[in-house]
Amino acid sequence: MLQTQLETYITENEKRFLEDLKGWLRIPSISTLPEHAGDIHRAAEYAADQLRRIGFEHVEVIPTRRHPLVYGEWLKAPGKPTVLMYGHYDVQPVDPVDLWESPPFEPTIRGDNLYCRGACDDKGQTMLVFKALESLMRVNGTLPVNVRVLIEGEEEAGGESIDHYVRTYPERLKCDVAFICDTGMPSKDIPALINGLRGIIYTEVEVRGAKHDLHSGAYGGVAPNPLHALALIITGLKDAGGHIHIPGLYDKVRQPTAEEKTFWQNDPLHINESLLEEMGVSQFTGEAEYPPMERIAARPTLEVHGIIGGFTGEGAKTVIPAVGKAKISLRLPPDVKSAEAFTLFEHHVKELAPAGVEVVVHYIHSGEGVLVPVDTPAIRAASAALKETYGKDPLFLREGGSIPIAALFDEILHAPVVLMGFSLPDDNLHAPNEKYSLSQFFKGIRTVASFLQKLG
Ligand code: BES
Ligand code: MN
Ligand code: MN
Repeated sequence: MLQTQLETYITENEKRFLEDLKGWLRIPSISTLPEHAGDIHRAAEYAADQLRRIGFEHVEVIPTRRHPLVYGEWLKAPGKPTVLMYGHYDVQPVDPVDLWESPPFEPTIRGDNLYCRGACDDKGQTMLVFKALESLMRVNGTLPVNVRVLIEGEEEAGGESIDHYVRTYPERLKCDVAFICDTGMPSKDIPALINGLRGIIYTEVEVRGAKHDLHSGAYGGVAPNPLHALALIITGLKDAGGHIHIPGLYDKVRQPTAEEKTFWQNDPLHINESLLEEMGVSQFTGEAEYPPMERIAARPTLEVHGIIGGFTGEGAKTVIPAVGKAKISLRLPPDVKSAEAFTLFEHHVKELAPAGVEVVVHYIHSGEGVLVPVDTPAIRAASAALKETYGKDPLFLREGGSIPIAALFDEILHAPVVLMGFSLPDDNLHAPNEKYSLSQFFKGIRTVASFLQKLG
């Protein structure tokens, strides 16, 4: 009876749910760019307003050293478990902006997809949690479990503030389960729960040569060139076969389970094919001795994100630049701790630097990876909920991306973490034309509502 009422409520309100999401998406809450600080605050207020309207109490926009957190609670289900529900309202920058088919902050529907920066990551996935809570509350007048909601505005910028908050006030976040809706599934008909994420260190390597730019004819042959030095450093860090040459980096990589290894090797769902298709390339790069999925899910990897320096304008300019910089990150499987990896990285970069240049490795941010146990009541409830909406049991998969707070909920709050998300491989996260599937959004609402009911 209540189940049909819930279904009716969701169906009748789908349009408004979408409008509420669109309103949030129009706020360009890019956390890494200082000029968007005002938008960050507006996006936080928007989330707080959503929580108040559902009937949450003690709703607060909590100031931090950087971007505010949003908190709200509803703790009126005595004897029932308490779930801490996490999401993030900040988004990635939008460049290259010319490649967007519709303006990046104007939510636009094409087919089954809603296009906008943040449509999926993570405003879409956070809004579906709000709407699951709203639906349960409106239909039943209560929630089946106690709920705390904690939303951050700094996830894409390293998440330092939430890290500090969780470590300082663990008692304010006491919970039995942590629920994170910020991951994906392999396709629309293969539901998944994520049981592992990689950690990350993000750095900027700065190389300085002469005290100012030099004429390349007058000084070429005797002057240090920071850009060439960077090229040597980068090629020394990782070879063409994808092996990283940082001594000690691989020492703590834990062996995957036999099931994982078999799944990655046999690839029964042809995920390799879709990876290639999504990339638009004909072959994989990286460590050929490991299956592609293992490389993504469970191996350390190193990527260069950007190289800055020298003359990049039109035409020619014969100059030896005085300075060059590269943005470089490492993804780390659980057990390879970020602080250790940073030390090893910094040391090796300096070793690789050719004579005549000065190298500084700047730390930008970091986060730990995580492996979550899958034999918990919360995971059983999550599996059953996914089975209800998708008609089949979910797969347990590791993803290569990072959500630094997941490891912290585990370590500090001792809460089993449920990583349930509805993103698809072609959602263009962090890229132009980010989108979210509308059917995934609405199924997500139903699945999260069902999960909370089963947990209660
Ligand atoms: N939602 C993603 C993480 C993610 C992506 C998980 C794909 C699973 C699959 C998250 O918003 C993200 O992008 N995280 C950053 C973390 C970093 C900035 C600390 C990442 O992975 O680059
Ligand atoms: Mn995210
Ligand atoms: Mn992201």
